[in-house]
Amino acid sequence: MHENLVALREAALSELAAAVDAEALEAWRIKYLSRKGGALSEAVKALAALPREERPVYGQAVNAVKAAIEAAFAKRQEQLKAAALEAELSGSAIDVTLPGRKPSLGRLHVTTQNLRQLYAIFAEMGFQVYDAPDVETDDYNFGLLNIPPYHPARDMWDTFWVSQSATPQPTERSLVMRTHTSPGQIRVMRERCPEPIRVILPGKCYRYEQITARSEHQFYQMEGLAVGKNIRMTDLIGTLQQFARRMYGAGRRLRVRGSYFPFTEPSIEADMDCILCGGKGCGVCKYTGWLEIAGAGMVHPVVLRNGGYDPDIYSGFAFGMGVERPAMLKYKINDIRYFYGNDLRFLEQFG
Ligand code: DAH
Repeated sequence: MHENLVALREAALSELAAAVDAEALEAWRIKYLSRKGGALSEAVKALAALPREERPVYGQAVNAVKAAIEAAFAKRQEQLKAAALEAELSGSAIDVTLPGRKPSLGRLHVTTQNLRQLYAIFAEMGFQVYDAPDVETDDYNFGLLNIPPYHPARDMWDTFWVSQSATPQPTERSLVMRTHTSPGQIRVMRERCPEPIRVILPGKCYRYEQITARSEHQFYQMEGLAVGKNIRMTDLIGTLQQFARRMYGAGRRLRVRGSYFPFTEPSIEADMDCILCGGKGCGVCKYTGWLEIAGAGMVHPVVLRNGGYDPDIYSGFAFGMGVERPAMLKYKINDIRYFYGNDLRFLEQFG
């Protein structure tokens, strides 16, 4: 074979083997196979310059070289394509050894957490949880609790009236958003009478109030009610003391002061020594040494009768406590609006 052709073939094949990507392959193709100026076309053109008798041999040889390097090119092209595909597939493969993405977990609202703690403490003392409605009649919210229309004690509860019932003079069937959890007392008594009762009644309450750092128009209360024979003030005080110790620490002291509520007689306010200063006096207890934990008292005979119980045979105690306020003390939260603001920066700090 013509020496030049041998050299051409060897150079082309070895350069082809060295082309490792599509770019290099394209450069090779232009150099060797391009119709205009490619090395192979040049070799074909050289045929014309040869003496006539040499042409057939040269022609055959150049065709053989052409076929050989074109076949080699096609093969190399396939190889590089396969390699590129392989690289792409293995590059994007899932690495099962990587740690997974952490799902973001929700958590219970701080109020729910507190309520559950209250349930647990009172459950150990034999109290069941009783659910009562948020929308009440005037009668359940006030009248049956010994607060007749125009009784001045109604001023203790700024009330949201449900619009349908906004008559100038509320009737006993007018609807209100309950202003306290006490109406549940009547419901549970009417349902259970004459069985003894030991329940707590947690729930949201609503008052027509200016929203400030100290007061919200919605908040939680938890009512307690025990009705039976021979239930006495000492049972009430013992229950509240036990509660304070379970909730806030074994050494807590309780004191009671005389008070007034239309639905209890006698009525008391129960305080415990300040959880921060232990009674010495500090900013949290406003330098009194005491924190109020509940309004309470012996269930008023009129209320017992409204619930179906004969006050000559049965007696009972009741108490009502806030849920957000104690949490504010415990966690040093200075604004009650955080509880309903739905700000994750606040909510994520609990639990
Ligand atoms: N219902 C009262 C209020 O919202 C709280 C209360 C006081 C409840 C004394 C009681 C009680 O059961 O005995 O202010």
